[in-house]
Amino acid sequence: MSEVSSGSLTQLKVLNHDPLVAGVPIAALGGQVTPSQQFFIRNHFPIPRLDTTSWTLQVEGEVERVLHLTYADLKGMASQEQAVTLECAGNSRATVQPPIEGLLWDHGGVSTGRWTGVSLGAVLGRAGLRYTAKVVLFEGADQGTENGATGQFNYAMSLPLDKALDSDTLLAYEMNGETISPEHGYPLRLVVPGWYGMTSVKWLLNIRVLDRAFEGFHQDDYYVFVNEGDEDGSPKQRVTSMRVKSLITWPGRGKILEVGSHVLRGLAWSGEGPVSLVEVSVDDGRTWQPAEVEGSESVYAWQQWRFQWEAIRPGYFLLRARATDSKGNVQPMQAKWNFRGFANNSIHAVPVAVRSRP
Ligand code: MTE
Repeated sequence: MSEVSSGSLTQLKVLNHDPLVAGVPIAALGGQVTPSQQFFIRNHFPIPRLDTTSWTLQVEGEVERVLHLTYADLKGMASQEQAVTLECAGNSRATVQPPIEGLLWDHGGVSTGRWTGVSLGAVLGRAGLRYTAKVVLFEGADQGTENGATGQFNYAMSLPLDKALDSDTLLAYEMNGETISPEHGYPLRLVVPGWYGMTSVKWLLNIRVLDRAFEGFHQDDYYVFVNEGDEDGSPKQRVTSMRVKSLITWPGRGKILEVGSHVLRGLAWSGEGPVSLVEVSVDDGRTWQPAEVEGSESVYAWQQWRFQWEAIRPGYFLLRARATDSKGNVQPMQAKWNFRGFANNSIHAVPVAVRSRP
């Protein structure tokens, strides 16, 4: 695995060069928001180069008025800002057992951005939804081919009407106070709080309101749960809301610590609501002790946690962290296996050694 640097602080682990897929090294994960240069990147096709002098966002389909909004039109509308954690559905799949197919994300396919833009509902309100509206489809400007699909097509995903009209679903033009970079969707991307990253469509060209369900490769063949024994072509459940999850960001795997007191650090999030509890176990999950969990600046952003561990004897330990969200969802020791290893929220376990002080 190689590393890229473009900017003094930038360090992403590149999993694939073309299309670009790059994750955050686990030790660099943390803070309330991820610096833009360090935000993970997940592209299915080459990055389209768009120019706001000619770019427009078209809103069409089951609407009263077709809209062609320029960049200036969007910037002229009331703006809103919020911190949102995006996690790729394939994050942590390198740890799935038995091993699965696909790009082997370690744990670095997750980041938090502070997004600024306009509410999608406000744009749909301008267009006026017809009573026949059922689903809202988002088409990106990027296109290419995929294994298992025929011909060239654009990246596209749809949302049910309730999620599209949620006042927190955003059409974002800024990330962390700056214009969104080409890698992350310039000039405009969707940000769907609480859902895995695949629906946050980048490089938006078109919003099409449909009177029936949309069927597309990424939505219905790729980002779906395929279970052992499923038949090819049978309908599959879509990947949507992020499962409750926590990561231990310090210490790293294989770290050698001295006997004594150590502060373990990590992150926790859930698409279903705030994280209410993070617990740590150092005895194979027999006992769990609560960590201190910080609040976050928005209900959609990860929370940082810390845990003071008294390592009183030398030996080998597996540190585990387990998060529970406000709806009572708890991370499992082992998430149910699926063909692409999506939504893997198995408890993160980090092996460390403790040595006597010299
Ligand atoms: N949008 C388009 N147009 N094309 C893509 O390949 N990838 C999706 C989503 N939006 C994708 C896209 C996936 S799978 C994820 S996880 C997020 O973008 C990643 O966003 P990021 O690259 O800004 O981190």
